[in-house]
Amino acid sequence: MIRHLYLVGAMGSGKTSVGRLVAQRLQLPFYDLDQQIEQATGETIANLFAQQGEQAFRELECEMLTQTIFVPRSVIATGGGVVLNERNRRLMRHRGWVIYLRASPETLWRRLQHTTDRPLLRTESPYETLLAIAQQREPLYQEADWVIETDALRPEEVADAIVRAFKPTPDAPLIISVLPNQPHEYPVQVAPGVMTSAVQAIRQRTQPTRVAILTHPKLRGYADPLLAGFTQNGVPAHLITLPSGERVKSLRAAERLYAQLLEAGCDRSSLLVIVGGGVLGDLGGFVAATYMRGIPYVQIPTTLLAQVDSSVGGKVAVDLPQGKNLVGAFHQPLMTLVDPETLRTLPLRHWRNGFAEMLKYGAALQVGLWRRLQTMLGQGVLGARRVRKAPDYWTLPIARCISLKAQVVSDDERDLSGRRALLNFGHTVGHAIEAALGYQDWLHGEAIAAGMVAEAEIGRTLGVTPPEVADELRETIAQAGLPTRLPAGVDADTLLTHMRHDKKRAGDSLSIVLLEAIGNARLIPNIPTEAIREALTRCATS
Ligand SMILES: NC(=O)c1ccc[n+]([C@@H]2O[C@H](COP(=O)([O-])OP(=O)(O)OC[C@H]3O[C@@H](n4cnc5c(N)ncnc54)[C@H](O)[C@@H]3O)[C@@H](O)[C@H]2O)c1
Repeated sequence: MIRHLYLVGAMGSGKTSVGRLVAQRLQLPFYDLDQQIEQATGETIANLFAQQGEQAFRELECEMLTQTIFVPRSVIATGGGVVLNERNRRLMRHRGWVIYLRASPETLWRRLQHTTDRPLLRTESPYETLLAIAQQREPLYQEADWVIETDALRPEEVADAIVRAFKPTPDAPLIISVLPNQPHEYPVQVAPGVMTSAVQAIRQRTQPTRVAILTHPKLRGYADPLLAGFTQNGVPAHLITLPSGERVKSLRAAERLYAQLLEAGCDRSSLLVIVGGGVLGDLGGFVAATYMRGIPYVQIPTTLLAQVDSSVGGKVAVDLPQGKNLVGAFHQPLMTLVDPETLRTLPLRHWRNGFAEMLKYGAALQVGLWRRLQTMLGQGVLGARRVRKAPDYWTLPIARCISLKAQVVSDDERDLSGRRALLNFGHTVGHAIEAALGYQDWLHGEAIAAGMVAEAEIGRTLGVTPPEVADELRETIAQAGLPTRLPAGVDADTLLTHMRHDKKRAGDSLSIVLLEAIGNARLIPNIPTEAIREALTRCATS
């Protein structure tokens, strides 16, 4: 279904030269949209602009882009203005992956100031024109599936980064840096099959004297090769298994784990490797944060939810009988290894569970991701009975979610500035739903899905969220097979009581992340209780 690799970016960002290199490396044909237009019309782009004007050129460009539907799988370099047309952006999303080669206006100017064949720069102050164009188009370019910062890279390095995004492998994974240039900087490596080279990847980063691997009995197929790999490399390794389920995220389980680590002889030079979903990631991370005042740990998430969310960002915690995540710490992993191949064994309900968090990133932070997820739903990735599990299909959207989270965490590691709070879209009501259900029956992502719908309704009531945005959100969540109404028997007042107990609450008033548009969320303080009650009542299951 998905075929091409479309390169977008400003004039001078290197789409054509880099595109050729990428096509060679991937052994795919190369197709340059501007060149095709020049060939088809027998005119240069500059002449077409001069003779027919920009509007006529854009129509021609749109027509030629539509022709790419019929060419075999290719690397396609587009013109700088192709993203201006919503139809073009939709077409590229439907027919391939879109990669944005980002260059700063300064870099672009350095490359372009002496050229004469760029019609849009034939103005009295071309640098200011370039700046204005870059500013106007930046949010449209950012809608791409992947963004590569090219300022400091040579063309070969940009090509390498594109190949890693398009076809990551265990030897050349996609790497996302969390907290770059900060004391706890670490990489998230994403590639189908990256599990197979996990021991090597971990040993390149650290040389532990001893390793403890934490997993569930049913995930031993993933954990056992690690155990063997460390042992073969002369590193004593121990397997610790725990049952599945949220109940394991407890102080009692943490205490048992401390005892098992002691018994295995683990000290501060030991490493904890966690192979599992968000429950083990949160519990294991909490134990790593506190055992002997903190030991390093590696996350190898095996659920979609853990891959896109909980294994990145360093929030680790256990639950108390009074509520979720009430005892915890910020403790960043040494690295996170994301292998979409491990999702093949995941049940459909847990795919949907993780998809809810993906939708959250799109809704709160990036409309391009939101549209990509809608496209995936339209292509039937989460069918009524069957998931399309091909890692080719999931790797880049998973990586995009991680990179969005990494940016937010890098800006606001400790949740202090309000930036990280945006990741809580859907969570104020979602956490209250989980608490009202006693953390049973509904999965985390299911509660967040209904929470997003409810918070969009709160936004609608307050006039913050446009009605069409709230409607689109609900329809998309329903299409993903996720709940859009509150659980039966849970009413607005019960939820309000739990919302007031949420640890993210500040003082007595309720602050909630609301949508102003898809991809644009804002933390709104002091929301009147009456508005919340009214909106929640509308979402109740009658
Ligand atoms: N720390 C954070 O930033 C953060 C963010 C979001 C959610 N969370 C937490 O994550 C937890 C939920 O995580 P989850 O949804 O991954 O649940 P989970 O860890 O309970 O995993 C869900 C189920 O899938 C099974 N499983 C795991 N990998 C599998 C695989 N590859 N194949 C087949 N089965 C597999 C598990 O054994 C379990 O039964 C919640 O406690 C939530 O609070 C934390």
